[in-house]
Amino acid sequence: MTSTTPSRPLAGKVALVTGASRGIGAAIARRLAGDGARVLVHYATSRGRAETLVAEIAAQGGNAIPVRCDLADPHGIAAMFEGIDHLLAERTGSNGLDILVNNAAVPGLGLLETLQADDVDRIVDANIKGTFYITQAGAARMRDGGRIVTITSLSATRANPAHLLYTATKGALNSLTLALAQHLGPRGITVNTIMPGLVETDMSAPLAGNEGQLDALRALTALGRLGQPEDIADAVALLVSPDGRWITGQWIAASGGLRL
Ligand SMILES: NC(=O)c1ccc[n+]([C@@H]2O[C@H](COP(=O)([O-])OP(=O)(O)OC[C@H]3O[C@@H](n4cnc5c(N)ncnc54)[C@H](OP(=O)(O)O)[C@@H]3O)[C@@H](O)[C@H]2O)c1
Repeated sequence: MTSTTPSRPLAGKVALVTGASRGIGAAIARRLAGDGARVLVHYATSRGRAETLVAEIAAQGGNAIPVRCDLADPHGIAAMFEGIDHLLAERTGSNGLDILVNNAAVPGLGLLETLQADDVDRIVDANIKGTFYITQAGAARMRDGGRIVTITSLSATRANPAHLLYTATKGALNSLTLALAQHLGPRGITVNTIMPGLVETDMSAPLAGNEGQLDALRALTALGRLGQPEDIADAVALLVSPDGRWITGQWIAASGGLRL
């Protein structure tokens, strides 16, 4: 029998982390595996990076499996979950999931006047529809007492005209979270969002080198620095741990106090 210890609070749990090939998702997968979970490392195009992370987790005594789909492809999502059912049944005797972290998303710069239909479809299909279909399939497989955490963005609660559609998709996911927390509560499943501020990853790379803007963002942050992927991973680890059992239906900023 698997026993839970303070150093491995997720022993015996199965977690799916989307967008885990790099950035924040990779840090979350690493952290949950370190806490003892068997982690499904989802990727879309970065197969090599996902496989390297899986090997790194295995080398440290953890359990991880790469899985793939494009968030914008509902058939691909369904096929990924069929694959997950087989993989988990082989390894654990059940297709049950305990933790779903909806982290994958596409960025989207674009003003009201400039966004074209293709961009609108790309951003909405991946961030809203894709996250919805993954949550629908994940919740259907989730054991009672499970955890769903969606990574949204602090910008969903602020005016951000340069990224208006991207932030609107994150607002939609915050809203979805409230309804799901209510709906899944009777099964003991908690549903929350983590809203990062600026985190140094590929997504924020366009700002790299713009020291003036980065300094301004540091100055707007109570803790005086930019976020690192591990800052977000540790916040997710708290929510999915046994200690997070009473937190549900919340949008939690993990931003170092950006724009308080
Ligand atoms: N970085 C920030 O400052 C910041 C701030 C607020 C919120 N966030 C949120 O934090 C989350 C992670 O961001 P990040 O900065 O770590 O991003 P990132 O470094 O750009 O990584 C994005 C991840 O999402 C996956 N992905 C992208 N498009 C996809 C698609 N169409 N289908 C499936 N997977 C897809 C990528 O997979 P592949 O590489 O395999 O294609 C990758 O693993 C996102 O939800 C983002 O909106 C980030």
